[in-house]
Amino acid sequence: MNDKMGKIVSLAKRRGFIYPGSEIYGGLAGTWDYGPLGAEMLHNVKEAWWKKFVGGRDDMYGITSSIMAPEQVWAASGHLENFTDPLEGKKFNTMFKSKVGALKGETADVYLRPELAQGMFINFKNIVDSFHPNIPFGIAQIGRCFRNEISPRDFIFRVREFDLMEFEYFIREADWEKYFEYWKKEIWDWIEEVGIDKNKVSELEVSPEDRAHYSKRTTDFEYDFSFGKKELYGLAYRTDHDLKNHKLDYYDKETKERFIPHVVEPTFGAGRTLLAVLDSAYTEDELGGEKRVFLKLKPHIAPVKVAVFPLLKNKPELVKKAREVYEEIKKIIQPIVFDDNGNIGKRYRRQDEIGTPFCVTIDFETLDNDTVTVRDRDSGEQERVKIDELTNIFRNTIIK
Ligand code: GAP
Repeated sequence: MNDKMGKIVSLAKRRGFIYPGSEIYGGLAGTWDYGPLGAEMLHNVKEAWWKKFVGGRDDMYGITSSIMAPEQVWAASGHLENFTDPLEGKKFNTMFKSKVGALKGETADVYLRPELAQGMFINFKNIVDSFHPNIPFGIAQIGRCFRNEISPRDFIFRVREFDLMEFEYFIREADWEKYFEYWKKEIWDWIEEVGIDKNKVSELEVSPEDRAHYSKRTTDFEYDFSFGKKELYGLAYRTDHDLKNHKLDYYDKETKERFIPHVVEPTFGAGRTLLAVLDSAYTEDELGGEKRVFLKLKPHIAPVKVAVFPLLKNKPELVKKAREVYEEIKKIIQPIVFDDNGNIGKRYRRQDEIGTPFCVTIDFETLDNDTVTVRDRDSGEQERVKIDELTNIFRNTIIK
């Protein structure tokens, strides 16, 4: 692992973002566990994605489908035949296979989903019957996927189970190029909104030999990680491959046509998003003559939004006031932390390292005039503001 990624991995472990899976038993390759800060950040990424692509739109239907599906689903989708990696001149299917049921003769082969998409396709008819959407519309999902990767590597970049955020956008065949370009632009907007350095992202037109079996065109969005330029997201034109193979179609009541919709599919790895966000945010600089490390995270993605400090731990009137301020802010913004441990400079550095955008300090002046200092993570500058104004300031800067 090169220097920058090595530093991120060690910060992630030390500060409670990400730990190796099953570590006390020697670890399990390709698995990582998210600690409290990582879980919070991952949740923020998913929430921002859902708000942008599902809740914020009128043409998207969000679902949560089963992780297991029977063999017939994967036969129809082509994954049984094609979801393979080459291993010793042979084809190795990277889907995890299992059995459901206990009694002999009553068991069935199932596979853990390697992508979310099939969950959307096999619910296509349910969504149409319940909601009667007009084309174009999409079905979206966030959830865990499993791939028996031959060689998992590069921290959380290539793992054996990971969260995907994905949608299938159903269109008429004639419109596929228009929507391909439309979603490309939306993906770029998302990259910027979530806090990925867009100068490190580039598009790659995937060649026909390298495209998935279902795709007629794929554009990958690659991120220039310090271990190489690698796929972050994908945008595929899946044609009518999936609905046709599941024997599903759509009836347009207005035009009285029955046809098989085509599909444009943007897909986003949640773990890869988090890794690219961390890589983009990781900054070393010098502040007040001292070296420091900080995560320049967007406030809505940062795992802790605000830290509240009494200037001194052994002055009960400062601690009491700081607790009151902490409780007030917490009513509006979560999660926030209270810290009275060590000198104030160290406390600032601890928050910088996990990307907390603001630190609020309660000092002796607070007791006189109800003002506190608010320190900005990136500049290190402090501003004195009225306690009454705090929640408004944070509401405007943190909540997206
Ligand atoms: N439904 C389309 C699909 O699954 P994919 O390119 O195979 O497409 C989608 O995977 C996204 O999932 C990738 O762009 C990447 O972000 C993420 N991804 C794929 N394999 C992964 C792995 N082994 N570990 C972490 N993320 C992975």
